[in-house]
Amino acid sequence: MRCFVVLSHTGPLSPEFPLADLPGSAGRLDILCRCATEAFLLSHGIRRDVRLYLVIRGKLLIRLDGASLRYLNPDERSTAALLRKAIARAQGVDPGEWAPSTPGIAVRWGALAHVRAELEAEGFGVYVLEEGGEFIRGVPFPERAAFVLSDHRDFAPEDLAALDGLPRVSLGPRALQAQTCIALVHNELDLREAGWTSVSCR
Ligand SMILES: C[S@@+](CC[C@H](N)C(=O)[O-])C[C@H]1O[C@@H](n2cnc3c(N)ncnc32)[C@H](O)[C@@H]1O
Repeated sequence: MRCFVVLSHTGPLSPEFPLADLPGSAGRLDILCRCATEAFLLSHGIRRDVRLYLVIRGKLLIRLDGASLRYLNPDERSTAALLRKAIARAQGVDPGEWAPSTPGIAVRWGALAHVRAELEAEGFGVYVLEEGGEFIRGVPFPERAAFVLSDHRDFAPEDLAALDGLPRVSLGPRALQAQTCIALVHNELDLREAGWTSVSCR
């Protein structure tokens, strides 16, 4: 089981935004949509053994579970519509309580620390994706591994406090876009699961 946790520093906390302006009035919701696409979608299918958390402004959590996820399509606009429904569902929900939105999507008010606690309680190893971390190829991962990454901004001081003590993993020397990081992690783990080591695939 793989999990990704994407930190959005500018995303919307209320659903009053037009789907035609995801990078602007929706606070770079386009990034979260692309992350969802990379986390779940294969060429013709969906990765069912994946979970994605979106942490918006350290306050609002959206959880997408591949096992039951429905209606996720490759285009950003329809993904944004699913996320907007989840954000609308959150309005008026008591803090700390997951509320179901569309199938496979739940929402609650909470912080990154709550996500970390939930993952650790479920036995996930939690890793922070950072350019300066240890190169992923040499890092052994448990069967349940979760990867935390930021959006178009650096991790904020409060993010780093919630991620204190976690191992840092690098995908290479260049600063990559968030959705690319998800694709590369999937590829690395797919290769390992298929037994395609760098020697055997030559
Ligand atoms: C677009 S980057 C964030 C902005 C970036 N710090 C900058 O201003 O140049 C998105 C996130 O992807 C992850 N990331 C990007 N490149 C990476 C790399 N080479 N190795 C591991 N994680 C990376 C980090 O979590 C980063 O915060």
